[in-house]
Amino acid sequence: MLNLAILASGRGSNMVALIEAIRDRNLPVNLVMVVSDQSNALCLQKANELNVPAYTFLPEHYPQRTQYDQALAEFLKAKGVDTVCLAGFMRLLGSNFVKAFPERILNIHPSLLPAFPGLHAQKQAIEYGVKISGCTVHFVDEGLDSGPIIMQKAVPVYDSDTVDSLSERILQKEHEIYPLALELLAKNRLKIDGRKVVILEENKD
Ligand code: GRF
Repeated sequence: MLNLAILASGRGSNMVALIEAIRDRNLPVNLVMVVSDQSNALCLQKANELNVPAYTFLPEHYPQRTQYDQALAEFLKAKGVDTVCLAGFMRLLGSNFVKAFPERILNIHPSLLPAFPGLHAQKQAIEYGVKISGCTVHFVDEGLDSGPIIMQKAVPVYDSDTVDSLSERILQKEHEIYPLALELLAKNRLKIDGRKVVILEENKD
C-alpha cells in the first residue's frame, strides 16, 4: 500500500482525477494528504469537499528554496508519506526533496516530452506548429520535466486551436493516464531501467 501525498498549486483537476480513481477503482493507495504551496488554491477547497486532509505549505515562510524543499520533505515523512504525485504543483523541487523519495515522485506534464518542457507547454506546442501534442506522466528526477517516462497520450493539434482549446483536449487525456500510471506504481508494475520504464505484467495471484 502506497502512502500518497498529492501536491498541487491551482485548480486541482488532476488531483480530483487521482482521488476519484483511488476511491472508485479501489487502488492500493492510502491517500494521506493534499499539500498546496498556495493559500486559497481551488485544489484545497476541492480536497476539503472530498474529505481529504489538505495543508498549505507556504514558500514565503522559508528564506531559501532548499530550506522549503527540506522542510516539506520532512513534513511529508513525518506524516508517513512515501510517494508523491505532483499535480500542477508549480514549483521545481530540488535534489534534497527528490532524494527523500527515490523513484517515488510522479509528475504530469501537458506535452509529449521531451518536447516542450517547462511552463506553458501547450502555448509552446502551438507556436512551434506541431500537429500532434499530448501529455506525459513521468518519474521526477532533479531536472526539469526530464525523468523517465511512464506513459504518454497523444492528441491532434488543429490549425484552429487556441491555447485554451488545446489545453482542454490534453487535460482530458491527463485525467486518463495519471490515474493509470499511479495504479501501475501502486501495483509494483513499474521497473526503471536507465531512462526506460518497463511496465511489468500483472501478477494474477
Ligand atoms: C495540468 O495541465 C498539468 O499537466 C500541469 O499543470 C496543469 C494542472 O492542472 N502540470 P490541474 O490543477 O490539475 O487542473
